[in-house]
Amino acid sequence: MTWISICTGKSGFAASSTAEDVTKGVDGTGLTAIVSGATSGIGLETTRVLALRGVHVIMPVRNLESGKKVKESIVEKIPNAKLDVMELDISSMQSVRQFASLYRSKGYPLNILILNAGIMTPPFSLSKDNIELQFATNHVGNFLLTNMLLDTMKKTVKESGKEGRIVILSSEIHRMTYKEGIRFDKINDEKSYCAFSAYGQSKLANALHAKELTRRFQEEGVKITANAVHPGVIATNLARNGGFNAVFYGIFNRFLKNISQGAATTCYVALHPQVKGVSGQYFADSNLSKASNYAQDPELANKLWDFSLRLTNSKVTGLENRDFLKKLSSNPPIQLHYSWRRIGFKIVGAKRLLWLEMTRGKRGVVCDVSGIEGGDMCGVFGMEKSMVSNGMVFTGSTYVAFLEQGT
Ligand SMILES: NC(=O)c1ccc[n+]([C@@H]2O[C@H](COP(=O)([O-])OP(=O)(O)OC[C@H]3O[C@@H](n4cnc5c(N)ncnc54)[C@H](OP(=O)(O)O)[C@@H]3O)[C@@H](O)[C@H]2O)c1
Repeated sequence: MTWISICTGKSGFAASSTAEDVTKGVDGTGLTAIVSGATSGIGLETTRVLALRGVHVIMPVRNLESGKKVKESIVEKIPNAKLDVMELDISSMQSVRQFASLYRSKGYPLNILILNAGIMTPPFSLSKDNIELQFATNHVGNFLLTNMLLDTMKKTVKESGKEGRIVILSSEIHRMTYKEGIRFDKINDEKSYCAFSAYGQSKLANALHAKELTRRFQEEGVKITANAVHPGVIATNLARNGGFNAVFYGIFNRFLKNISQGAATTCYVALHPQVKGVSGQYFADSNLSKASNYAQDPELANKLWDFSLRLTNSKVTGLENRDFLKKLSSNPPIQLHYSWRRIGFKIVGAKRLLWLEMTRGKRGVVCDVSGIEGGDMCGVFGMEKSMVSNGMVFTGSTYVAFLEQGT
């Protein structure tokens, strides 16, 4: 017996509702969805139930063999299931770009994008693009994939007349992020890395991503919604790195959802007619729920967008490149030459500085210095006068530098 609540919320569904319950009677024929992380846990069940409802599901997986096995196991039970397996390592920008361009070249439409793939609490490591692995996998990959498929989604909306939906798997753990919320200036700081807080940070980024997408869609008048969901706590392979381990699952077994209950909120938000037009929200137990204050902060959402855009737009090898910063500190560091709203940087020891973020106290400023060659002096406008004085030197921890590959 489990102790999962059977009390229904406003939607008419409860924590105990399964993915099949919340999509009963919904006809998904003619819709195409991408479900990332379809080889295991929530993603696998989401794929199965969408296919059961007639949706054509594309399964981007990092291991093609497991993807094919999952496809076969679903088709065995649902012979009409329309499933296609494609390769994607969401933690690698190159792989995301390849996947998106192959997807576009196949001419598939895209009605529903479910950003589900994720990892939890690995020991500190960097992705191929030198970004802390949880942030890279759980947020940056999603961000790039979404941006690369937006035109396809918009075209599908136009041609089908049906609303597009983006569903992003967040978690209640988004509340347990680092105290600053998103540590823009310490994303790659190994010394202060806490696997659990870094997971929380990436899940906060998921909720903020949905929020900012919504703002942009509404501004543009595009009929696409973006929502974040907490699936519940489910014993899946997610705990392979620890965090919640077998002992935790053993003790709390009765409070855990099973996998079909765990996929319910995703399927509800992706398919149910009740959710039409609802966007920028946080769902749990197939009902609207309230995310943390950080997750509802529009400025933070906007800042994360800019940050993610810079990460994904530039050929970056390192952020917070400590060696470079050390070199700057002894060289001396970046010097600011200030004369009436004009700031000059002297860049030492780098071929090219793509951008620079500086923070003094609580105030931060991001300067776009793209295209500035090392050794040059450059002018940047828009910095608060009060922040700088002539010849001021910013020290190690106060800035983050993005360097062009090969520097
Ligand atoms: N389970 C929970 O209690 C819980 C609670 C809150 C939120 N969530 C969220 O729900 C989502 C799904 O989690 P789950 O519990 O179903 O975990 P899971 O069983 O471990 O499934 C994760 C999926 O993501 C895929 N994945 C991981 N890294 C990838 C990469 N670099 N490229 C492509 N695919 C990758 C995995 O592929 P492989 O098979 O190749 O490893 C797997 O298919 C995650 O975003 C998680 O944060 C889960």
